[in-house]
Amino acid sequence: MPKQTQSVAIDRSRIPAHIAIIMDGNGRWATSRLLPRSMGHREGAKKFREIASYCQEIGVKHLTVYAFSTENWKRPKEEVDTILSLFRDYLIEAKEELGQRNIRIRILGDLAPFEGELRDLIEEVQTINCREDALIANIAVNYGGRAELVTAANAAFAKKGGPITEEELAACLYTAGQPDPDLIIRTSGEYRISGFLLWQCSYSEFFFSDLLWPDFTTEELDRAIFSFQNRKRRYGGV
Ligand code: FPP
Repeated sequence: MPKQTQSVAIDRSRIPAHIAIIMDGNGRWATSRLLPRSMGHREGAKKFREIASYCQEIGVKHLTVYAFSTENWKRPKEEVDTILSLFRDYLIEAKEELGQRNIRIRILGDLAPFEGELRDLIEEVQTINCREDALIANIAVNYGGRAELVTAANAAFAKKGGPITEEELAACLYTAGQPDPDLIIRTSGEYRISGFLLWQCSYSEFFFSDLLWPDFTTEELDRAIFSFQNRKRRYGGV
């Protein structure tokens, strides 16, 4: 059963610009209800839509979610197909209405395995015009932080032909041009980074929620933001 959480009042003038989420616990949510794991992912995809809208409402500028890792291919084919089909459904919806809803989609990850209609959709949704103040929703798919770093390092080195700087490497990451996450949330009571945004998380604040992703709420997001707002970020200084 989802835990009850006390509501907190966040300061809307100090909302983290970039929130990243490891949406964990879909499988356990379904299994605990004697449902197939695919139902957990279905609920998880709905939850993503709800949380993205709320982020937009409170003024988050960048939202990054971990939808499918490079390791997730090891799951049963049916489960992989479900996750990718939910991703595809979201892209179709994005193509039709996200321009009006003012959400700009960015896909982070190695897109090589995606071909045909899915690949076309991935390319298309990233070109949808939005206003300047759009929420940037980054969806990490076939994403691995180590792979991202190796790809970026090789690209930066190839461009320059010699030793590279931090800025040159950052400019070759999937998140190039975007700020690093201020706040990273992982749900489901797990305390791991699982290769998510390994470079970009250097100075992020972390919040671990016991709620399974389909049970996550806007109130729990407020709790994460409230916790963030009450921390002192020192970036290695005093
Ligand atoms: C982690 O839970 C969740 C995933 C690996 C998949 C997340 C995918 C979606 C929410 C759907 C597609 C996304 C979008 C953005 C439309 P888990 O299966 O590892 O849960 P468990 O640890 O309880 O098994």
